[in-house]
Amino acid sequence: MNQKSRLFEIKRLKGLSALVTGASSGIGMAIAVALGREGASVAVNYRSSEDQANEVVKEIKGYGVNALGVKADVSSPDQVEAMFDKVREKFGTLDVLVNNSGIQKDVPFLEMSPKDWQKVLDVNLTGYFLCAQQAAREFKRRGVIPERSPSAGKIIFISSVHELIPWSNHCNYTASKGGVMMLMKSIAQELAPMKIRVNSIAPGAVKTPINEQVWSDPEKRDELLKLIPVNRLGDPQDIATVAVWLASDESDYVHGTTIFVDGGMTLYPGFAAGG
Ligand code: BGC
Repeated sequence: MNQKSRLFEIKRLKGLSALVTGASSGIGMAIAVALGREGASVAVNYRSSEDQANEVVKEIKGYGVNALGVKADVSSPDQVEAMFDKVREKFGTLDVLVNNSGIQKDVPFLEMSPKDWQKVLDVNLTGYFLCAQQAAREFKRRGVIPERSPSAGKIIFISSVHELIPWSNHCNYTASKGGVMMLMKSIAQELAPMKIRVNSIAPGAVKTPINEQVWSDPEKRDELLKLIPVNRLGDPQDIATVAVWLASDESDYVHGTTIFVDGGMTLYPGFAAGG
């Protein structure tokens, strides 16, 4: 066995249980599968795509770990509570929450209806608040189990480069992600004494259904690539590897920060030839 395959033999999340929201497709799906591959039991949250979620559950079970699909609209307090009850019932407790569910409703500011504004805030920000609160309550109730981890639990927010980069015609989305940044940092400060670790990953342009209308159109794709110094779109795996690391104890001293995984999108690439 060479060094590399030996490395992957070590299941970094063995014995832990995790919940990933919005895990029936895209980045959430890749993270859920990667956590399972590393030995965690995984709850796969979905809102409407039951068949796709079942496929993800099947794939995760293939790694010899427990997995279940849980339907819930993350913006509904009752449904979120019921989802956490179900996960606790099945796994006993929870060690890792990955807040990932997110939507876009792209409309110019002057035309944006209160409904378009509210819906995005409800899912992307309130949904993260509700799930993080449920997870943190469970982590606090259970406390640290030293044989398992030095931490009582980990919360990982999937944010976006748009917690930093303004984006015309997307003010509901950018406002939600800016909010995610301060939600993450504020609760990281508050939960540190309880040994609950909180961080964000900010993906750039990752090839998923959310931005398919951009990457599937050759002209729009070329325009997008101009914004990415490494000159390629991200793959959900690029995010999943970082999520696994944040869920593991290898990152035990990483707390309250955002890791940008964006191929350099936040480097102001327009300045490479201008300014
Ligand atoms: C958005 C994508 C976009 C990317 C980079 C993400 O947060 O969901 O639609 O391609 O940011 O702009």
